[in-house]
Amino acid sequence: MDYQSAKTLLEAKGQSQLLKYYDELDEAGKNNLLTAIENINWDFEEALANPVDMSGKDRDIRPISGLRQAEIQKRKAEFETVGVEAVKAGKVAAVLLAGGMGTRLGVDGPKGAYDIGITKPLYIFEQQMKNLMEVTEKCGVTVPLYIMTSDKNHAQTTAFWKEHNYFGYPEKDVQFFKQDMAPAVDYDGKIILERKDMPALSPNGNGGWFASLQRAGLCEDLHKRGVEWLNIYAVDNVLQRIADPVFVGATIASGVNCGAKVICKTEPYEKVGVLCMDGTQPDIIEYYELTDEMANQRDENGDLAYCYGAIMNYLFRLSKLEEIVDKKIPVHIVEKKIECLCDDGVTRKPEKENGKKFETLAVDLIKPMGSVLPFEVVREKEFAPIKNKTGVDSVESARELLKGNGVIL
Ligand code: UTP
Repeated sequence: MDYQSAKTLLEAKGQSQLLKYYDELDEAGKNNLLTAIENINWDFEEALANPVDMSGKDRDIRPISGLRQAEIQKRKAEFETVGVEAVKAGKVAAVLLAGGMGTRLGVDGPKGAYDIGITKPLYIFEQQMKNLMEVTEKCGVTVPLYIMTSDKNHAQTTAFWKEHNYFGYPEKDVQFFKQDMAPAVDYDGKIILERKDMPALSPNGNGGWFASLQRAGLCEDLHKRGVEWLNIYAVDNVLQRIADPVFVGATIASGVNCGAKVICKTEPYEKVGVLCMDGTQPDIIEYYELTDEMANQRDENGDLAYCYGAIMNYLFRLSKLEEIVDKKIPVHIVEKKIECLCDDGVTRKPEKENGKKFETLAVDLIKPMGSVLPFEVVREKEFAPIKNKTGVDSVESARELLKGNGVIL
């Protein structure tokens, strides 16, 4: 894109501030900026103009039925047989969503490269691969692994995996792809400048993972390998089971398009979004959208009716994903501290929120998938998220949970 086209485009969009320092830049800087402007994804304009209604009104919310632990234990052998067969037949692939910025943990570089070890190094990626390899060793096959990164961490992530020899996994079965970026705006909707030659861009949430995987040409690879199910998981849960045959088997046996690992709420007001039905479609309802009556509602067994908290471990049917990939899912607007160019020409992270980012969420794919099986896991055995350094969902709490599961740190 040349300067004149950029100027015309930005004037039409009311975003001319992006060219404020153009004349001060050298040739490389000018090219950087013009390329970044050319690549801006303008979907955020629609999201700003018509923000999604998060109030939950106009929805026909009801409890959803799922598989509780008692039932899973009773039918474990049956589910496991189906799941092992699917894994052995190469029908299951894993997709690690690792494009996030891990801002709450506050480390530079990929969150998965964080060392949670005490007496020896143990990286988050490494622990997750140990969990996956328990399954692949049992089934005698590898599960192809696709790793989503973003412009912010791609080079570091790929270098880290190479440096650590893919944690003992065959390199040919690990592939990386990049997610899209979205601009960040100030409270007047103006795109923020991060540097004189670069608008502030950040990963656009984890909801676009399948579209990005497809755009990277990896669906061909999936089909060539005969994959039918994709198990997506977050980088931060170090206890999660990946390609877990019991979960895979239960999802396949239930005939649904999607399985979701869930933890059951322990009290009515626990701050976790829960799976539900909206009319005939599965959906998620945030804790602040539940009325008192709904939060306290009990089923015939006396358990909370709205209890299934999703933990970002889903099994999606590939053919259905391909069918719905172009359907729009809500864009969430989140206020964040956005690194920006200050008046003195230095880029800094502000002390408090200074603008908005735009994100889609993987959980919002559940509705278009049309059907979901909530599958309860034992919290202490499968849920150790690392969001913060200390306190709730932290390195500290995850270490305790790992130790409780016999992992030597
Ligand atoms: P989180 O919502 O915890 O976000 O992501 P985050 O970016 O890692 O952490 P904070 O909020 O900045 O502290 C849940 C999962 O989704 C991935 C993350 O890498 C993590 O595995 N994710 C998140 C993406 O892959 N892309 C994104 O744009 C956002």
